Amino acid sequence: MREVDRAEAGSEKEVEELRVRLLGKKGEITRLFDEFRTVSAEHKREFGQKLNNLKNKATEKINELKGRIGQSESSDRTTDLTMPGDMHELGTRHPISITREEIISIFRKLGYALAEGPEIEDDYHVFEALNFPPDHPARDMQDTFFITSGHNPVLLRTHTSSVQVRTMERNRPPIRVICPGRVFRNEAISARAHCIFHQVEGLYVDKGVSFADMKQSILLFVREMFGENTRIRMRPSYFPFTEPSTEVDISCNICGGKGCNICKGTGWLEIMGAGMVDPNVLSACGIDPEEYSGFAFGMGIERIAMLKWQVRDLRLYFENDVRFLREFETSI
Ligand code: PHE
Repeated sequence: MREVDRAEAGSEKEVEELRVRLLGKKGEITRLFDEFRTVSAEHKREFGQKLNNLKNKATEKINELKGRIGQSESSDRTTDLTMPGDMHELGTRHPISITREEIISIFRKLGYALAEGPEIEDDYHVFEALNFPPDHPARDMQDTFFITSGHNPVLLRTHTSSVQVRTMERNRPPIRVICPGRVFRNEAISARAHCIFHQVEGLYVDKGVSFADMKQSILLFVREMFGENTRIRMRPSYFPFTEPSTEVDISCNICGGKGCNICKGTGWLEIMGAGMVDPNVLSACGIDPEEYSGFAFGMGIERIAMLKWQVRDLRLYFENDVRFLREFETSI
């Protein structure tokens, strides 16, 4: 019985040999049946039962081995080793990553180092140290995702300007950094707004840094990014952490400034906020505003990518539809 249990076979031929050895005309089990005749009447019943069990078991085992071999042999037959392999489709980089890398590489050429900061921040680094008055509307629940309440609440950063603060806390001038990262605002999702998006912040602090330096750096950047004929325009604006502050426009890269539906007939496209770092911000970070000055700027990566490739709906960046992503294959 145990021998039947342990029987193995590697091919159809071996199974057949096993069958002949056990159940063939002169097989071991067949021979036992012959001996059955010689068994005394009182043991016939018991012996007969055992013999039948053994025969059934052997038949079952042989069928099982046959099935197993049949299966592997038939699967072998369907494996055609001359067939070409399955092609792995190559992925593409996301347009936001492509744009972020391009922005970083332009500023790297201008001597900017990379800096990063946490996405989960506190009120101090996102607002207070950046000279936001306590009742500024940006602290309102409408715009900010708060995680805790009370004094210096924990929140999701609403802009990368918090990295300015962290960089100035840890380093002494000269400071020249570029800080890309994800930011969060409590906004309804639409074609033009999302609750998660990406910014790149720039900061330059040293002795004698002027507004003219800022203008030239931004001009160099936009010409690298959008083409050498791009012009810039600065409109007065307000940010609590810069003084004076400005909103930067570029000449429309679609119509060249003549006016089209992308620039809504104005010939200009808004691309970033910028300004001279407010002396209060420098002081809050332990840098003497009498000795040092600096400029900062911040732009939305989605916005830059939209202008570069005429993407009309912000939501496309987050849906990961391969038909959209494939359009950027050649931009890598
Ligand atoms: N942090 C500003 C924003 O999110 C952009 C900005 C950065 C403006 C640096 C001026 C200087 O809109």
